[in-house]
Amino acid sequence: MRRVITKRELRAALVSSKGKRRVLVPTMGALHAGHAELLRRARDLAGEDGCVVVSAFLNPVQFDNAEDLKTYPQHWEDDIQLCEDCGVDVLFTPTPQEMYCADRSMVVEETKLSRGLCGAKRPGHFAGVCLVVSKLFNMVQPTDAVFGKKDIQQLAILRRMVRDLDYPITLHGVPVVREANGLAISSRNEKLSPEQRSQAPKLYAALKQGAAAYAAGKSVQETIACVSQLIEAIPGTRIDYVEMVGAENFEPLGAGLHEGQAALLAVAVWFGEVRLIDHIEVSR
Ligand code: PAF
Repeated sequence: MRRVITKRELRAALVSSKGKRRVLVPTMGALHAGHAELLRRARDLAGEDGCVVVSAFLNPVQFDNAEDLKTYPQHWEDDIQLCEDCGVDVLFTPTPQEMYCADRSMVVEETKLSRGLCGAKRPGHFAGVCLVVSKLFNMVQPTDAVFGKKDIQQLAILRRMVRDLDYPITLHGVPVVREANGLAISSRNEKLSPEQRSQAPKLYAALKQGAAAYAAGKSVQETIACVSQLIEAIPGTRIDYVEMVGAENFEPLGAGLHEGQAALLAVAVWFGEVRLIDHIEVSR
């Protein structure tokens, strides 16, 4: 594996994979079992002959909260080892100065799918994600890119970016990886206290109960109320949102699902200072 830090080094490291399948996995470091799944998928897609590129860049532009950025988990040595173990060819770890010009003035903003859920609660977040991912797409020029479905709204927005800006790149979504107790694996889980960690699996349990209640005939409002109550009963939590949205347009469901329409029950919940998100597909 080659580890590169500058854009120039990256370009040099990519020369030998010109014309071959090149698969990018953008990350912010703090890699975990969920990322390992992304890396394995990338290796499968690239095959022996292709090239797997991982970027590990803690992107300051997508943080709406300075404290969150400051306390975001970092363990670069472990990340390098995981990339080695998963057969990554090139690991790109730029500094913020390498990534961004000090007087940058371009924005890349999606304006529909990003209106609700995390887009409403974290102003500027998805514009920051789109900016860095579009820059990475331009630098790496991958044939494919792999993202986790845990950040389901992010994936939908990036698919829209690829479609609307004509990036010739195929995006692949990898299912959420969960602990045996149901907790969605996330870098932010590392910030939970032992007590919060023992409570956090109740989030997915609440989502599963909500999905079952909806399937059994509860209305959208009743389902949201049921999930909210279950989460409010978890000690030390504060709800950021509990919503049901269409899986394609991310608009609130309102009256309910049309026949055959896919929908999501999505939550963001504060465990003390740590904000966790999760979702489940719903239907009936
Ligand atoms: O999902 C993430 O880790 C980040 O939002 C991404 C896509 C790497 C952009 O910084």
